[in-house]
Amino acid sequence: MCGIVGYTGGRQAAPLLLDGLKRLEYRGYDSAGLALVADGRIEVHKAAGKIDKLEKDLGTTLPAGRTGIAHTRWATHGAPNTVNAHPHTDCGGTLALAHNGIIENAGVLRTALTKRGHTFRSETDTEVLTHLIEELHLKGRSLVEAVAGGLAQVEGTYGIAVVSTREPDTIVAARLGSPLLVAIGNRENFVASDASAVLAHTRSVVYLDDGEIAVVRPDEYHILDLGAVEKEKAVTHLDWDLATIERGGFAHFMLKEIMEQAESIRNTLRGRLLEEEGTAKLGGLNLADEALLQVDRIVITACGTSWHAGLIGEYMMEELARIPTEVEYASEFRYRNPIVDDRTLVIGISQSGETADTLAALREAKRRGARTLGLVNVVGSTIAREVEGGIYLHAGPEIGVASTKAFTSQIAALALLTLKIGRLRALSILQGREVVRALARLPDLVQRVLDKAPEVEGLAERLLRATNVLYLGRGYNFPVALEGALKLKEISYIHAEGYPAAEMKHGPIALIDDLMPVLFVAPKDAVYQKIVSNVEEVKARGGRVIAVVTEGDTGLAALADQRIEVPETLDLLTPILTVLPLQLLAYYIAVRRGCNVDQPRNLAKSVTVE
Ligand code: F6R
Repeated sequence: MCGIVGYTGGRQAAPLLLDGLKRLEYRGYDSAGLALVADGRIEVHKAAGKIDKLEKDLGTTLPAGRTGIAHTRWATHGAPNTVNAHPHTDCGGTLALAHNGIIENAGVLRTALTKRGHTFRSETDTEVLTHLIEELHLKGRSLVEAVAGGLAQVEGTYGIAVVSTREPDTIVAARLGSPLLVAIGNRENFVASDASAVLAHTRSVVYLDDGEIAVVRPDEYHILDLGAVEKEKAVTHLDWDLATIERGGFAHFMLKEIMEQAESIRNTLRGRLLEEEGTAKLGGLNLADEALLQVDRIVITACGTSWHAGLIGEYMMEELARIPTEVEYASEFRYRNPIVDDRTLVIGISQSGETADTLAALREAKRRGARTLGLVNVVGSTIAREVEGGIYLHAGPEIGVASTKAFTSQIAALALLTLKIGRLRALSILQGREVVRALARLPDLVQRVLDKAPEVEGLAERLLRATNVLYLGRGYNFPVALEGALKLKEISYIHAEGYPAAEMKHGPIALIDDLMPVLFVAPKDAVYQKIVSNVEEVKARGGRVIAVVTEGDTGLAALADQRIEVPETLDLLTPILTVLPLQLLAYYIAVRRGCNVDQPRNLAKSVTVE
């Protein structure tokens, strides 16, 4: 949600900043801008829309300057136009600031600053911060002192980068609630919202924690707390390969990430399956078996697609580990008065590890004494650092805004955790071994489904003009119906709803006619016969049925108008296979409708505002 990148060093900053911005564009693409410090002044360029537009406006002669900051915006306050684009400058153009987050007391501060003679140019909350820092900086405070003083007056969340003509080779960055890191190069340094922006230049990064300020110059960087006391921080060496954050021949990141799933699931499982013992080895849990045995209830909390994975986790935990499990939207959990204690295990699921609501829900759970775990993809992200322990997904960077490979890795990780907890409780060694073996076979089965992409593409042709689609599933595949519907609506803008198939009779059945495609997720599992009856109910009302079925299922083959087959696996793992055609279907429909699948309108990856 908004991307920031900054550079200070010996090279011209503008091309580096533009390249960094492009890698951060998934975080927001309402507008973009950059500010460069050169010859005692700050030159700012901004454009509404995507980074391409900014680049086009700049032309071939990029502005000069060896220190600069840049921003790609996901609008919160103020329309996504050029004036509201970041960076914002103060009254006299001494400093420029890029911000990710929300300043909650911006209204009051704006009134007070206006009374004190400041002129506002934009409608953003961010601009108040610029003027607050200006007041202190122009009175002689150093940039870092002025930033600290300005931040002390605001309420809300921020990740910011600030430059000033008075300290032309310095970037001051600060973080409270919005991710930020310092990346260390050779006589040059960067700040960025995430490592993908700087990976082409260095793999050594220092993640800022909340309440920290960084002072970054070409030859040095210092991390301070808000009281200006210097802190020792560990440098993380990233082992990401640049190729993993590039499209590698695919038309879109989303397609690349869908097609990578055999490998990403293999990576989630690697080294974690113990076949002989019928359990999983999870080194990062940081919870001893005794502590896990104390747990008498699990609460899974997450947002969006990760929440759908959580629902599958609930079914797994209750069926195999026999432990009461609930799943809560993080945004609801955090503002209720949730009943959790030291025997409750609260599991946050998040691809980015930065989602504001999930993070806040975990903090609340921790405050109330619960044990906390994170199932997170981005190594070193805030959630990963704040929970007691967890399972990294190792799915590799997910850049497409619609989550795909993270979802299947989340389910695989939940299966591992179920195995681990289950084997301490209700699951026999034989059952455990069966799950381990099924997990080990999964990547090959995933590949078999992905090989059917051309078949799904053909099916997409028939759904291009649909205006509504109903997705139905039962048991483990009810959350898959929710996920299929979410994928379709978010990237193709076709309205879609997911329902438990039997719930259809309690309302949605009224929608069914010959124009309404109904997509059944109906593998041969424990509830198969039940869902066949639901298919009959739709057919009896003239509905058009598309079904995701198990290979060789002749029963549904006769009923469905179209079908896609997936291989057989254990019931609890079927979602990993059945969701694949739904991801592909949404992708091909969106592409054929001319939608920007990697950057759907109004969305951003990593939702760091609540
Ligand atoms: C949908 C999607 C979102 C995210 C949600 C949570 O395709 O990507 O619904 O799943 O914003 O994000 P994370 O998992 O990063 O916490």
